Amino acid sequence: MGIAIVLIVIVAASLLFHFVSPWWLTPIASNWGQMDDMLTLTLVITGGFFVVLNLFLVYTLLRYRHRDGHRAAYQPDNRKLERRLIVATTFGIVALLAPGLFVYAEYVRPPSDAMVIEVLGQQWQWRYRFPGENGKLGFVDPRFVTGANPFGLDPADAAGEDDILVTPSEVHLPLGRSVKVLLRSHDVLHDFYVPPFRARMNIVPGMVTSFWFTPTKTGRYEVLCAQLCGVGHYNMRGYVVVEEPAAFESWLKAQPTFAASMRPAPASSAGGAETLVARGQALAQSRGCVACHSVDGSAGVGPTWKGLFGKTETLADGSTARVDEAFLKGEIREPQTRLVKGFPPVMPKLDLSDEDVAALVDYIRSKAQ
Ligand code: CUA
Repeated sequence: MGIAIVLIVIVAASLLFHFVSPWWLTPIASNWGQMDDMLTLTLVITGGFFVVLNLFLVYTLLRYRHRDGHRAAYQPDNRKLERRLIVATTFGIVALLAPGLFVYAEYVRPPSDAMVIEVLGQQWQWRYRFPGENGKLGFVDPRFVTGANPFGLDPADAAGEDDILVTPSEVHLPLGRSVKVLLRSHDVLHDFYVPPFRARMNIVPGMVTSFWFTPTKTGRYEVLCAQLCGVGHYNMRGYVVVEEPAAFESWLKAQPTFAASMRPAPASSAGGAETLVARGQALAQSRGCVACHSVDGSAGVGPTWKGLFGKTETLADGSTARVDEAFLKGEIREPQTRLVKGFPPVMPKLDLSDEDVAALVDYIRSKAQ
């Protein structure tokens, strides 16, 4: 009797939670209303089974409870009952899976006039590439990847010269235009996910995956990584800004092309210290340092940069070291050689120029107080 009451309470509480809980989907901002329909269908089927099975259990607990003089009957099989159960579960599973397959088939078949954008995932940051004026993405290959050329564009391919590269973690898209998204990974499995678009896709190393969507509402939406990809996974975030086509065009024009990004940066002249710090800050963003190192003193995967410069750190082997320029340069160049006590040995070795390292060190120094 006790168990029967508990089951009824669980069913009632679940239904109540479903109907009154404030945790529900964010308003949709793309054409994929069908994703919500699929979710509703799944919820109705699994929820219906949940309620029916639990109430059936309550019924049997009461109907067949122990009574004096009652003996259980032995019934090794019941073909009629089995046939009914097989039909019911088959119907339920087909209803769960089949409609989703139709939606998925549409999800990976973009309209022919869709604009193309590439998403590049890397522990733990996002980068984006748009085709330039020629409307074509240039050839890429892992052997061309360097610190200055994170996309691995082939310098010899003329089609790639006008490709537009977006390395800060915010990308813009025009309202109402279909977008075909191509996805690549530099290292491990990631998953590009923008909840209000109801759109996501795994990014598999060595493959180019794709899907499409049409943004239907202007706004600034958070991008999440939806595959556990290492200690910085939770912080692999970014933003998609959906705006009117004219605003998008002027934003796109302001982004550097591949050819421009490969030109050596102009030597910093007047106000050099200031620009070096600014460059270090931009690098910390674009190279993903900020995924693990905070600048406000909050805890992260790696030591916070606030007050780091000039501090004496205890190393994993028990020795101590003062955090100065040489120490920081060594840590950035060879992250695994000297480990700071209390932090996992997960810092990746980045391909950075000497000027980049100097800029990062200056930026960290600027956070000393
Ligand atoms: Cu990338 Cu999780």
